Amino acid sequence: MLERINKLLSEVEAFAAQSKEEVEEYRIKWLSKKGEVSELFDEFKTVSADLKREVGQKLNLLKNKAQEKINELKEKYEAQQEQGNKQSIDLTLPAFPTLQNGTRHPLTLVKNQIIDIFSRIGFTVSEGKEIEDDWHNFTALNTPENHPARDMQDTFYVNLNPEMVLRTQTSSAQVHIMERQKPPIRVISPGRVYRNEAISARAHCQFHQVEGLYIDEKVSFADLKQTLLYFAKEMFGADTNIRLRPSYFPFTEPSAEMDISCTICKGAGCNVCKHTGWVEILGCGMVDPQVLINCGIDKKKYRGFAFGMGIERITMLKYEIKDLRLFFENDKRFLEQFS
Ligand code: DAH
Repeated sequence: MLERINKLLSEVEAFAAQSKEEVEEYRIKWLSKKGEVSELFDEFKTVSADLKREVGQKLNLLKNKAQEKINELKEKYEAQQEQGNKQSIDLTLPAFPTLQNGTRHPLTLVKNQIIDIFSRIGFTVSEGKEIEDDWHNFTALNTPENHPARDMQDTFYVNLNPEMVLRTQTSSAQVHIMERQKPPIRVISPGRVYRNEAISARAHCQFHQVEGLYIDEKVSFADLKQTLLYFAKEMFGADTNIRLRPSYFPFTEPSAEMDISCTICKGAGCNVCKHTGWVEILGCGMVDPQVLINCGIDKKKYRGFAFGMGIERITMLKYEIKDLRLFFENDKRFLEQFS
């Protein structure tokens, strides 16, 4: 038996595996339950008492050496494999082909287009604040104390001291601009506004507007009309017509609402224009002298016009979108159409 142990010992010592699989093969051959070393341990029970000590020691030595050798070779192959895995990552491969770029939100696209159109005739951009005080959202804009727009049903009030509101119109930005800046002023103010309205296909509690303001020495209603005609043609196409209808806003005098010729039926009459051939897109007017006074501008020297439009409305017309809620649902199938 000693002889077999010695033979196995030299086999273990000389062993140099060629592969990971070979290491496993030898582990089974030597150390598994039915392996040679286990067999020797079984036989060990029959060894005579005087040899037990010597044979026992050798047998333990063999078992330990075999285990050491297997562990050592296993580690070697595992390290090699890890190294190989690292090297096989090809960093020059193109990115995963199904990764798609995102798309801009249609409201952002239209907002950027509006900014672009007005910047070409000298308007800069100034964003106001979404949380406003009463002065900027109402009082400075001539909205009297008992005006229905201040009603809790229309306005979200923020419980602060002093009380604040979520702005109901970007017109509040006008006030900030005039308080800060001396004329000439030529600014547009895009941004989000809030109204306490039930959500439907045509209304939402949050939406977006762009406010426009032009203050200088000899600004006239004709300048307003020409500016808006230019905008309508740039936005909806050169064959677009506009019309101005008298209206009322507390902060402009005179005031008007502007319609464009229906972009869908070109004036022939359809559902969108309710068979009138015209679609309303904005409110406008000459800045009321009282508003100029409220904002610290000399009403004798300066005059101005202002206008305000809803970005959702323009986007819906431009892309023929029928439900306002789509803008806020983040449905990828909808958003992906605007690249
Ligand atoms: N603030 C008005 C609204 O929310 C829109 C508007 C009308 C803005 C006339 C103006 C303007 O600057 O002159 O309905």
